[in-house]
Amino acid sequence: MILRAMKESDLDDVLAIERAVHAHPWTLGNFSDALRSGYACKVYETDAGALIGYAVMMLAVDEAELLNIAIASSQQRQGQGRMLLGEMLALARKKEMRRMVLEVRASNASAIALYRSAGFSDIGLRRDYYPGHAGREDAILMGRGL
Ligand SMILES: CC(C)(COP(=O)(O)OP(=O)(O)OC[C@H]1O[C@@H](n2cnc3c(N)ncnc32)[C@H](O)[C@@H]1OP(=O)(O)O)[C@@H](O)C(=O)NCCC(=O)NCCS
Repeated sequence: MILRAMKESDLDDVLAIERAVHAHPWTLGNFSDALRSGYACKVYETDAGALIGYAVMMLAVDEAELLNIAIASSQQRQGQGRMLLGEMLALARKKEMRRMVLEVRASNASAIALYRSAGFSDIGLRRDYYPGHAGREDAILMGRGL
């Protein structure tokens, strides 16, 4: 697997994954803004050049915020998400961040399990934070030291 910087030309592939894995996907504008803002935007590629995942992280003073991470449905449950998260943790450490934080939908059991097993713990709750299909949904705030 290769981790490399995301480019505008990746956004068709990125959006195809995003729309398949998220009930409330980011838009093209969200990804373009993240690239323009200088966030750490990375894609995860096989050696053959197939884009199978991506992550977007904002670095602010000494805190990294993981804004998005996804693995293509066909590639899930093979350890790729854990490896990609590990790459983002290593990158944040390299940038001298002291902590990583993120927000996750309370119903997203697989992501929550991944984060807990990667050392994240709950640090807060934002009630009714996300739009959901049946009313609004809570966001769980998680964090870990680096
Ligand atoms: C969350 C996500 C990135 C995990 O990627 P993945 O490649 O499937 O994860 P891995 O195979 O590395 O699994 C790592 C751990 O995550 C948890 N996990 C992943 N999928 C799971 C599932 N379907 N059910 C329960 N736990 C799951 C497990 O703890 C797993 O460890 P284990 O295999 O030792 O049990 C992936 O499911 C995804 O892209 N989801 C949609 C996007 C998303 O929700 N992103 C997070 C937004 S905050």
